[in-house]
Amino acid sequence: MTQTKTKTNSSGKKALTSYVEIKNIISQILFGEELKSILNVILTHAEGKLPQTQALILLYNENSKCLLFGAAPSLPESFVQKVHGIQIGPTAGCCGSAAYFKSTTVVRDTLSDPLWASYIGLAKEYGLRACWSVPILNMKGELLGTFALYYKKTHKPTQKETILVKELIDIACLAIERERSAILKKESEKEIQIQRTNALNSLKHASVGEMAKNISHEVNSPLAIIRGSVHQMNRIIDQPGDNKVTLRMHTARLERSVVRIEKIVKGLSSLTREASNDPFLKTDARTLIDDALSIFQERFLTSNVRSIVIGELDVLFECRSVQIFQVLISLLDNSYEAISKSENPWILIHVMQYDQKIRLEITDSGNGIPTSIVEKIMVPLFTTKVHSRATGLGLSVSQALIQEHSGKIWYDKSCHRTRFVIELPLEQVSSLKQAA
Ligand SMILES: Nc1ncnc2c1ncn2[C@@H]1O[C@H](COP(=O)(O)OP(=O)(O)O)[C@@H](O)[C@H]1O
Ligand SMILES: [Mg+2]
Repeated sequence: MTQTKTKTNSSGKKALTSYVEIKNIISQILFGEELKSILNVILTHAEGKLPQTQALILLYNENSKCLLFGAAPSLPESFVQKVHGIQIGPTAGCCGSAAYFKSTTVVRDTLSDPLWASYIGLAKEYGLRACWSVPILNMKGELLGTFALYYKKTHKPTQKETILVKELIDIACLAIERERSAILKKESEKEIQIQRTNALNSLKHASVGEMAKNISHEVNSPLAIIRGSVHQMNRIIDQPGDNKVTLRMHTARLERSVVRIEKIVKGLSSLTREASNDPFLKTDARTLIDDALSIFQERFLTSNVRSIVIGELDVLFECRSVQIFQVLISLLDNSYEAISKSENPWILIHVMQYDQKIRLEITDSGNGIPTSIVEKIMVPLFTTKVHSRATGLGLSVSQALIQEHSGKIWYDKSCHRTRFVIELPLEQVSSLKQAA
């Protein structure tokens, strides 16, 4: 059977490790077995083929320039502990010098060879009389570790041993490289995740900051009313007669304006607030929509923008209300910018509930977004606006916030007006609630 056949290695010599043996080890590598157990299998195989040997693999740590324990199925634990962490160097025993020179080091007699001068005690204690070590190098020639064989008697490596070690080093190299790239992948994924979170946070801040500037204009209108009323009241106070009714009218206007400013300031502070650690709390759609619309009250009035809110407004859903408020403000802001100068502008908010979800459709009287840019609108920093306040962040940040709620937001291409749809679960999964 072909499976039991041995193969011929690259140097044309008969291979000592059979196809089945190689296949077994490679499949362990592919199935993600732990590196140490794969190296153990490799060394056990070596010791099985060469019964008079004890094998050791050390792994190179680039940062510390040290060799760390990899595998040694039959060497005593206490010996292994003593070699773990040895610095590589020109006279650092077999493994240390093989690693240092990146070439095979042979010590036929540990008791007389100068390379083992500092380790003579070890040689005697463990009865290790001969040793040879081969560096494990990858395709680029980078050092990954060392593969060593120890003997109880003085010894010179035979051709059979050299072939076998070469074969096994190729497999060990594959296993070490796989583990390294898995670690690198994990590290870079972690790094990318950190960068994404940082970028998103700064995007959120930039976006809400811009929006806050925009909304502060809203305060000017009630302030103008207050200024006008105070002026009128000062005049009336100096006039003769009973002016109580007129004064009351002015105090009522003052009060309304103050309430309005209070509401705007409250909205502003939640807009700029970092809410990613807020708990998910049951909130009704009506309150959120009312709060968001109230931020636009003056601007809508001046530009004759009609806002219509319909549907199941009392639906309760779990959310970080500040974040959903921020999303609504972003969408309303975009709609306002798109339609405020058009004839008969309107914005319709429709709330629906189905399948344990809440759906919010925000439609404006615009004629839709051109197909040429639809695919880009959610991309951070994409904007078609020329004024300096445009950040190109409103939709991308909104998308991130909705995704934090395990929801979806999309532009509805099927609507002949401009419509964005938000879909959110009525309840957040418990892990999310706990994270909060
Ligand atoms: N309601 C809308 N009507 C028309 N175009 C819109 C609307 N909402 C978004 N867009 C388009 O999507 C782009 C990206 O929006 P956004 O991410 O909020 O950034 P910004 O508002 O700063 O441009 C806008 O520049 C605009 O071209
Ligand atoms: Mg915007």
